[in-house]
Amino acid sequence: MSTAELRSVLDGDGGRFIYLSAALAALNGLLFGFDTGIISGAFLYIQDTFAMSPLIEGVVVSGAMAGAALGAAVGGRLADRIGRRRLILLGAGVFFVGSLTMAVAPSVPVLVAGRLIDGVAIGFASIVGPLYISEIAPPRIRGALTSLNQLMVTVGILVSYFVNFAFADAGAWRWMLGAGMVPAVVLAIGMLKMPESPRWLLEQGRTDEARAVLARTRSEGVDEELAEIRTTVEKQSGTGLRDLLQPWMRPALLVGLGLAVFQQITGINAVIYYAPTILESTGFGSVTSILATVGIGVINVGMTVVAIALIDRVGRRALLLVGIGGMVLTLGVLGFVFYVPGFGGALGWIATASLMAFVAFFAIGLGPVFWLLISEIYPLATRGSAMGLVTVANWGANLAVSLAFPILTANVGRPSTFWLFGLCSLVGLVFVYRFVPETKGRTLEAIEDDLRQNISLAD
Ligand code: BGC
Repeated sequence: MSTAELRSVLDGDGGRFIYLSAALAALNGLLFGFDTGIISGAFLYIQDTFAMSPLIEGVVVSGAMAGAALGAAVGGRLADRIGRRRLILLGAGVFFVGSLTMAVAPSVPVLVAGRLIDGVAIGFASIVGPLYISEIAPPRIRGALTSLNQLMVTVGILVSYFVNFAFADAGAWRWMLGAGMVPAVVLAIGMLKMPESPRWLLEQGRTDEARAVLARTRSEGVDEELAEIRTTVEKQSGTGLRDLLQPWMRPALLVGLGLAVFQQITGINAVIYYAPTILESTGFGSVTSILATVGIGVINVGMTVVAIALIDRVGRRALLLVGIGGMVLTLGVLGFVFYVPGFGGALGWIATASLMAFVAFFAIGLGPVFWLLISEIYPLATRGSAMGLVTVANWGANLAVSLAFPILTANVGRPSTFWLFGLCSLVGLVFVYRFVPETKGRTLEAIEDDLRQNISLAD
């Protein structure tokens, strides 16, 4: 790209500026993925520096998830109050402080504090990344653009594996944890140049600014979209929180909360966080296990790219149904393989292939589609708060599964644990079939209209 072309994109030439804004905002996803993935490697070496009780170990590892739940609880309201863009800037600052605190921590309490601060930023990022992108995107490509955020989550996880690998010989855990400062700075600097969400601006009565942002991010249809958003704003009944409790909101809350929980209780993070342990038990050596784990990370990224290519064409429901259906099958196979006595050899390879297929099916369905749908189905006035509520449920379920997985495998065994995830996936499949709406190609305002008129979202 020539300098003149780059300048025209930066200045906003309607069509292409939108891609730049979405890509930058998707750095929220990168930080989310990187900061959740990095701890598994760093933790091995932190133990050499500090003596920790098992309880404190648990807090160091899962502290970020608890922090994320807190961040999501506060972040949703903040997104509605201070705006999407300012929350991204604030979040980048919190990421920076959290990573710095962990990197220089002289003691365990400071390390735990850093991990919690970092978690709060992860909570902010998990909401505001998809929220911001879905509100600036034109309906035709909203699915693909918003899912860039999930793509960057998967890239962040993969990068964290490599960073862990790079610093492993030196045992340099401070560098591993401190590395998160780099994307935080890029995000902060980049966002200074990016516009606020036109929908939030209009909601604040800042019509001229909203029009300017639409003009900068659309090549056509600016006036129509502005009029549509304005009509929606006029229908608002009052404060966002009150809306959240209205009976007409229930179908949307059910969909969001259901997907939030199913995204986690079907076991993705048991695989993402414990892949090396699971793989070693299939008879692989540690190096092969680590390589296979990287393979899982690559598949996660690759299949998210496939999802992005399909999401605005085949729609959200089709991807969810195929993805969860595949998860049911692969989990069934995994349980069976682990069940067979004297497991190893060829079965070890089948287990590995099934683990990879399981991640592929997650990446094409529940991974991106959950975050996309929850940024689409809530009314403007309460969108941040509603996403906050649903995201808290997602982090809560994530924490519960991560803590329960080692306990479950120790007590009921690995086959039953995987079958339990499989059963949850089966219920999830029925749930999606029955309740989840198709939002492909529609404006956010049209989706909200259906909700207000009590048209069941799934019809
Ligand atoms: C989930 C995370 C998960 C990641 C894996 C995200 O959508 O919310 O819990 O670790 O996908 O790619």
